[in-house]
Amino acid sequence: MSWKEELSKVIEEFERATKAQSSLSAKDVESIRIRFLGKKGLLKPLYSLMKGLPDDEKRQLGRQLNEVKAKIEAFIKNARLSSPSGESIDFDLSLPSEIRPAPGRAHILSQVQNRIVSIFTSMGFALFTGPEIEREYNNFSGLNIDISHPSRDDFDTFYIKTEFPNDELGRYLLRSHTSPMQVRIMKEFAPPLAAIVPGRVYRPDAVDASHSFMFHQVEGFYVDDDVRFGQLKGVLLEFSRRFFEKEVDIRFRPHYFPFTEPSAEVDISCLLCDGAGCSACKQSGWIEVLGCGMIHPNVLNALGKDYQGKKGFAFGMGVERLCMLKYGIPDIRLFYNNEMDFLKQF
Ligand code: PHE
Repeated sequence: MSWKEELSKVIEEFERATKAQSSLSAKDVESIRIRFLGKKGLLKPLYSLMKGLPDDEKRQLGRQLNEVKAKIEAFIKNARLSSPSGESIDFDLSLPSEIRPAPGRAHILSQVQNRIVSIFTSMGFALFTGPEIEREYNNFSGLNIDISHPSRDDFDTFYIKTEFPNDELGRYLLRSHTSPMQVRIMKEFAPPLAAIVPGRVYRPDAVDASHSFMFHQVEGFYVDDDVRFGQLKGVLLEFSRRFFEKEVDIRFRPHYFPFTEPSAEVDISCLLCDGAGCSACKQSGWIEVLGCGMIHPNVLNALGKDYQGKKGFAFGMGVERLCMLKYGIPDIRLFYNNEMDFLKQF
């Protein structure tokens, strides 16, 4: 028998042996290995045959033997991996896998938003979320922002064309802040009430390093018989120190929002220079972090008798901004690019 015939007999034999059973036990796999590749296996005599052959045939046989051997080895490797019995052959199960899926994690903005929310829930605020598609009434009028009020321009808005008739709640829009949730929640629940509301907001701003047409805010408010500005101050100081994990100071600067009176913007002492003045805080020692105030009586009175004569404070903060300050992130666009090299750092 020529070596060619002998080799094709081995191949046939191998095909018969492996076709017979659809799933092989570890033992079957091992006996196939011994039968074909073992010391006295079927391929062995063909290797011995090589010596006596002329050079070109030697090369031919060598190449074909290598191919057959590789095929049998691949089969065995595969069969072992899928061995249904789970019997161990010569695996070391403690070796690390060749396939290592990257562990997933929450996006940095979700992490920071959750952290903000959990600081407030630990103080007794109840968590709410609400719709991103809002009505003109909740986003503006219910918050004492009149149609003609020039401050309406400060909350530039995406309006949505709909087929629905315009009822008393006015047009549909993408909410430009989370404050409409004050109106929604107070319509539904009587005071006393303390709520914390994270969510997306939209404004038709040109995108640059510090602006995006969509970003995240966290709204908080507290309404009761007797709520004072000092309590607002205490809550925000406690929040700032816990969020930044640093004994920061805060200061209130008078500001204007139609839905709070008095209104203020809150600054924290600069995280980099501790108030001494540096380029991050434009030498002022302070960095603006949020807007707040005592809820305007017009907002409360529009909610019916449960809210007559009540008092409350409210605040709203930007999640991206707080996140950028805490981690020294220079460009808001990094949050939305989905670049793994950036996201993996958090
Ligand atoms: N809604 C305001 C804004 O988006 C922030 C704010 C919330 C101010 C609550 C006062 C009270 O700028």
